[in-house]
Amino acid sequence: MALNAKRYTVTAALPYTNGPIHIGHLAGVYVPADIYVRYLRSQNKDVAFICGSDEHGVAISIRAKKEGVSPREIIDKYDAMIRSSFDQLGISFDNYSRTSSKIHHETAAEFFKNMHADGKFIEETTAQLFDEEAQQFLADRFVTGTCPKCDHPEAYGDQCEQCGSSLSATELIHPKSTLSGAIPQLKSTKHWFLPLDQYESFIREWILEGHKADWKPNVYGQVKSWVDDGLKPRAVTRDLDWGIPVPVPGGEGKVLYVWFDAPIGYISSTKEWAAREGKDWAPYWKDKDTELVHFIGKDNIVFHCIIFPAILKASKEYILPENVPANEFLNLEGNKISTSKNWAVWLHEYLEEFPGQEDVLRYVLTANAPETKDNDFTWKDFQTRNNSELVAIFGNFINRAVVLTHKYYNGEVPQRGALLPQDQAVLDELILFPTRVGKSIEKYRFREASQEMLNLARLGNKYLADEEPWKRIKDQPERVPTIMYIAIQIAAALSSICEPFLPHSAQKLRGILNIDTPITWDTIASKAELLKSTHIIGKQTLLFSKIEDDVITRQLDKLAQTKEENEKQAIELPPIKETISFEDFSKLDLRVGTITAAEKVKKAKKLLQLEVDLGNEIRTIVSGIAESFSAEEVVGQKVTVLTNLAPRTIRGVESQGMLLMSETAEGKMVFISPDQGGENGFPIH
Ligand code: 2FM
Ligand code: ZN
Repeated sequence: MALNAKRYTVTAALPYTNGPIHIGHLAGVYVPADIYVRYLRSQNKDVAFICGSDEHGVAISIRAKKEGVSPREIIDKYDAMIRSSFDQLGISFDNYSRTSSKIHHETAAEFFKNMHADGKFIEETTAQLFDEEAQQFLADRFVTGTCPKCDHPEAYGDQCEQCGSSLSATELIHPKSTLSGAIPQLKSTKHWFLPLDQYESFIREWILEGHKADWKPNVYGQVKSWVDDGLKPRAVTRDLDWGIPVPVPGGEGKVLYVWFDAPIGYISSTKEWAAREGKDWAPYWKDKDTELVHFIGKDNIVFHCIIFPAILKASKEYILPENVPANEFLNLEGNKISTSKNWAVWLHEYLEEFPGQEDVLRYVLTANAPETKDNDFTWKDFQTRNNSELVAIFGNFINRAVVLTHKYYNGEVPQRGALLPQDQAVLDELILFPTRVGKSIEKYRFREASQEMLNLARLGNKYLADEEPWKRIKDQPERVPTIMYIAIQIAAALSSICEPFLPHSAQKLRGILNIDTPITWDTIASKAELLKSTHIIGKQTLLFSKIEDDVITRQLDKLAQTKEENEKQAIELPPIKETISFEDFSKLDLRVGTITAAEKVKKAKKLLQLEVDLGNEIRTIVSGIAESFSAEEVVGQKVTVLTNLAPRTIRGVESQGMLLMSETAEGKMVFISPDQGGENGFPIH
């Protein structure tokens, strides 16, 4: 196998601590990264698997404002939640840090100071968007507007999520503050810019010429299109109050741009890990024999393939990523996953609702990973993959092998006899699996790798189905020890080959087979005997369990409810009418009244003819409320009446005023009534 590096630094995108983790994050980044790292460890490689919480930036401030709490409260809450759910899913980071930590603040500040001292920034005063109402400069997610590249009306100040372009806030057409809704003004402010244009030939040579063949086409294509568009200087500081203070003179009141500090978070997290483990962090980032791999989602490509490499290059001595295997997006039941619309399967909820089934989610997200194109997660597919693959193929094979070994040999691996050609063929095939699965993983083809892993269980199932030990025990009992011996060897191999994909099940399977020390992939490939005759296997327990229809229906119902709530919220309200003066308003004579009589207007489905008591007089009013109320039910209803509206004849009846009404989201009319008991005829002002 071609794992030649001396050590591996594998990073997974630092998640923002402004919300929990969902299946899109998992399928795009964390599950493939974990499979890769577990595989490297299985090959005895020196690996640092690095991640942490991304705790700066506007996303956090917005969430804090929305919840009416401090950014610190937000990051503490989500950092704890994210850590615990990653841990439960078995994402095996060597270190999970936080960008709010002291070591990170120091590391990022040092990068900035060194680059500043080396003249790597341009200092410039430019006009930036400013919200007069909120008294704040608007960058990144504090401002939305129309994307200048694709016309998407809700692009952010740093990026358009529709076309993936990276933007500056001032490029947005019709910008609007997300803080106050105000149209921003331009105001001068000083910032430090990274002159990306100066790195164009470096990026061209390194990625466009150097990695055409080995990087994923989606990653390569995005980089090429940015470079072909021409790289521009990019501000790496912001006028915000949440972040790492700009550590050079003139930087007071400003912070580092979150995308300047976050990737440096990989380095500070490595430092934290090394200090804890008594290691030196530097080779993991500076030694040419180290292979650096960034696992990210496709919206992070520009930052990891252009901006961070430019920072590393400018800081000298640092290695560059060997690969950035970004995935595409995962949709949910045909729609884009959306945190704000709650259209997601949240990891912490899954873990609560599917206890002990962590590996099912890992498996489904791998088997259906959005590796080459956007993909869809459906609960039906989740059920099918569990029931027809994990249970019916993997679980079924293990179950048969273990149950029969207990039944025929009291759990003792039997002594095999002479091998028939079909036995030899299976053993010959078994030894190929480490390389097959490994090759796919090394090419970042995790879907393919997961199916190869399952093929090993298929091999075992087919062997048992062909050899039928349950029949041979009657007509040819001397064959059965060999058959069961081979089945147990396959089961033992599976306990290691499945580990990167299904770590919880691998451990369980080792328990079932009574394996203390995990069998290495090299041992499997070397034809060695994996479990010797006389080894006593453990007790049979179910490795996977069937997921019933009602469980899936519950999840689908939950999503249907979310959809319904979103649809209600999405009802379009008419725009606010143009401003009127107080004089205009005071021309309206609004009074409290009570409906004293009501009847349907003949041949008019929508109209009720009402008698309304206005204290000194009774008025006749025709109102279009008959589809929402019967005549009987409105009698006695207190109402607000516009009394000085010019009378109008409707269906032959003169209407002498108008009732104030509104409507519910379902379209039912409702009265605007003085519910604290206003008296008939009294003015409303
Ligand atoms: O897109 C995101 O969720 C970012 N928080 C990823 C940061 S990756 C790295 F650079 F830190
Ligand atoms: Zn766009």
